[in-house]
Amino acid sequence: MCGIVGRITHVPFDIHDILESLKRLEYRGYDSFGIATAEGDVFKATGYIDVHANEIPSRLTSVAISHTRWATHGKVTRENAHPHVSQDGTFFIVHNGIIENHAPLRKALQAAGHTFLSQTDSEVIVHYIEGRVSDGASIDEAIRAFMNEARGTFAALLIRRDDPHIYAFKRDSPLVLGILDDGYAVASDIYAFSDTTTKAVFFEDDEYAVISADSYAFFDARGAPIGKEIATVRWTEAATRDEAYDHFMIKEIHEQPAAARRLILSLENEQAPFMDQLVTLARTANRVLFVAAGTSYHASLIGVYLLNSIGVEAHTLIASEFHNYMLADEGTLVVAISQSGETMDVVKAVKHARSRGSKVASIVNVPYSTIQRLSDISIEILAGQEICVASTKTYTNQILVLARMAQLMGLETDLDAIPDQIEQTLSYAEPAVIAMAPELRDVRDIYVIGRGIAYPLSREVALKLKEISYIHAEGMMGGELKHGTIALIEDGTIVMSFIQNADHDTMSNIEEVEARGARVISISDNSEFSPDFLLPASVPGSFAITATIVGQLFSYYIAREKGLPIDKPRNLAKSVTVK
Ligand code: F6R
Repeated sequence: MCGIVGRITHVPFDIHDILESLKRLEYRGYDSFGIATAEGDVFKATGYIDVHANEIPSRLTSVAISHTRWATHGKVTRENAHPHVSQDGTFFIVHNGIIENHAPLRKALQAAGHTFLSQTDSEVIVHYIEGRVSDGASIDEAIRAFMNEARGTFAALLIRRDDPHIYAFKRDSPLVLGILDDGYAVASDIYAFSDTTTKAVFFEDDEYAVISADSYAFFDARGAPIGKEIATVRWTEAATRDEAYDHFMIKEIHEQPAAARRLILSLENEQAPFMDQLVTLARTANRVLFVAAGTSYHASLIGVYLLNSIGVEAHTLIASEFHNYMLADEGTLVVAISQSGETMDVVKAVKHARSRGSKVASIVNVPYSTIQRLSDISIEILAGQEICVASTKTYTNQILVLARMAQLMGLETDLDAIPDQIEQTLSYAEPAVIAMAPELRDVRDIYVIGRGIAYPLSREVALKLKEISYIHAEGMMGGELKHGTIALIEDGTIVMSFIQNADHDTMSNIEEVEARGARVISISDNSEFSPDFLLPASVPGSFAITATIVGQLFSYYIAREKGLPIDKPRNLAKSVTVK
């Protein structure tokens, strides 16, 4: 996780300008931040940039690096915030990733007289470089030596006092150079500078670059120069706050009908050739293996359900265990689903699948992301930037791509009906959820059950309740409840149940928990069950979206009742770029 931004220009800029860019990467981590300039100024603070930027004085510089942190090694303290400074105070580093062999490196550096000021793995990089340079190496040589010796992942920016260069190097963690009118920006992703340029150069693994205000040069890990292509990136407009909404989460929940319409149109028009290629790959493969994490994994379960329903063999697994439990081979199509396109577990699984000869397709929201660039074919979900850490509109659009894929392979459904159904669900369910939220604010546990297509969405709703409302929630197969979890049901326990169509089995589960005192909140598209929330009659695939939206609303309005930090929940980051 963590976001890094550097900037180097002819005309000096105020360091607050770079903090503006850094803010756009806060979704990668937001527990502390910092900035260093080539004049040797270092400013750091714990907490959000917006809250603490006023503690940082205005300062003009032409070279600066900055960092927004999601703690991995070492607590959230000012000392552990980046940039880290070398022993002699001349080198400054910001780092995204994890240096796995930081302990032996630190030990060796300490034995050579280096004193460490933080508990981070990252600080070893700056001491290592300083050590090599004081032994007579050039900065290039020191970087190459580090890349050779380091294990783990890194995207790092290094500057030296009074040196008009930024040195940038990376393995596994993302890094991209932006070509500005007056110099260069270098950052974890294009959002950091997408307001100023569309020209970008993407770093590949084990490359480093030396950047001045006039030019840049890329090298491989042995120091050989590399020619790089300049990509013209499509405008990725950063989302802006809308006064009508108190949080990005509710704004993004309400964007779902429009985002769904935009995507459906694109899948039937400009992305149609890519969808055809995806379907051809799926048809010629022996089986389809999805891989994803978190919410995207729940969307992938819907993909499995829809493809299996038309006789296409499909499976899915959470990315971090993919290499242990899935047999990817030349006959497999691996479909990676990832909003960010940067989730490290998914990147690793994709690389694993590629090494075993599988074809790789991806379904991503962020264009030019690592996963998109690793794929043979990639579909974009066109949800627009999602700022709230919790996925809402991107989940809906992931399901729409999967439903379109299944439709092209024989599923009879009507995608065009879905945006209207989302609209109806929002306007019908929101007032009812607002009315119920106060009585749920002090609830400790919620069990969420469903069968068939309602099983994955039960897990998704439980995840939303955990991460946004801080309620312990378990999403599970209705049929599994009686195999153990029912022991926890007592008077007043909340059970949220999702019942699609004629699912009498889940209705029986409801009777079973009610008999033990549970308070059931039922959500169905079938009036026969007299549910608390009667959703529009669904078409294949749509219940996974409309029913989840009710859960999204519950998690939002309960969290609001509790006064929680909805868009930036504790301990989380939107882009999980560590293993
Ligand atoms: C939950 C959430 C996370 C992500 C997960 C994967 O609301 O957003 O669970 O779904 O971290 O992220 P992506 O889709 O970017 O790979």
